[in-house]
Amino acid sequence: MPQRFGVSALATTATIDVVSDEASTPGSDELVGGHQDVGADRFYFRQLLSGLDFGVGDAVAEGMANFSYLIGDRQSGECVVVDPAYGVAELNAIAEADGMKLTGALVTHYHPDHCGGEMMGIKIQGAAELLEIAPVPIHVQADEGEWVLKATSLSSSDLALHAPGDVVMVGEIPIQLVHTPGHTPGSQCFLVNGRLVSGDTLFLDGCGRTDLPGGDPEALYYSLTQTLAQVPDDVILFPGHNYSRLPHQRLGDNRRSNRVLLPSTPQQWLMAFT
Ligand SMILES: [Fe+2]
Repeated sequence: MPQRFGVSALATTATIDVVSDEASTPGSDELVGGHQDVGADRFYFRQLLSGLDFGVGDAVAEGMANFSYLIGDRQSGECVVVDPAYGVAELNAIAEADGMKLTGALVTHYHPDHCGGEMMGIKIQGAAELLEIAPVPIHVQADEGEWVLKATSLSSSDLALHAPGDVVMVGEIPIQLVHTPGHTPGSQCFLVNGRLVSGDTLFLDGCGRTDLPGGDPEALYYSLTQTLAQVPDDVILFPGHNYSRLPHQRLGDNRRSNRVLLPSTPQQWLMAFT
């Protein structure tokens, strides 16, 4: 669901754990996706806009302006879809037309415009319908699991529950799952090959709202100013909605222009956005 901000009090500090799954560790103590340089010949990445690239003819898809993403390894032909919603068959067909096969779905958070369900009385396709086409694991943060189950018709066996910092491999390309609570309890961003796919945690202008069930302004403040502050300036921000003139932006530039990242103290932030 769309954006805006808000905050209440202050709390704990989150950090980005470096790969909690030893078996899939690529042998780096850096943020896994922060400084990678997988070439364009191998790295498959597509930003797809609802109502335009998929969900064509769907007024809700067009109005909500969600971004879904396909991320993959051209060498192995494997890819994952981030936030399947609206035209899930179209998303799968786009991957197939590119010679890629879906091996998983990554869900940033439980809101129906990101993983399907019912929103304002309107049924939105999502991860559950995707499984009828492509039976793949649905990767969510553990803290989001119950919320995703409530919002969709998925069952618990469909979900792969993750801890902060876990890595999902797509072919030989690691995608780090960065837990950024606030918009929802288990909101997560994905860091891969110098890109941050941020869902509704951070937009090019503003951040996700915190007044929906599970929202926590205090947690979002720390996700933005502590957890995501560890991501390098040269990483490119890819948001969950097309709310801005540009579809993506270098994080260093966003840090100078995004009003929710400008306050230098928690008190300033609380005063500005609550
Ligand atoms: Fe949302």
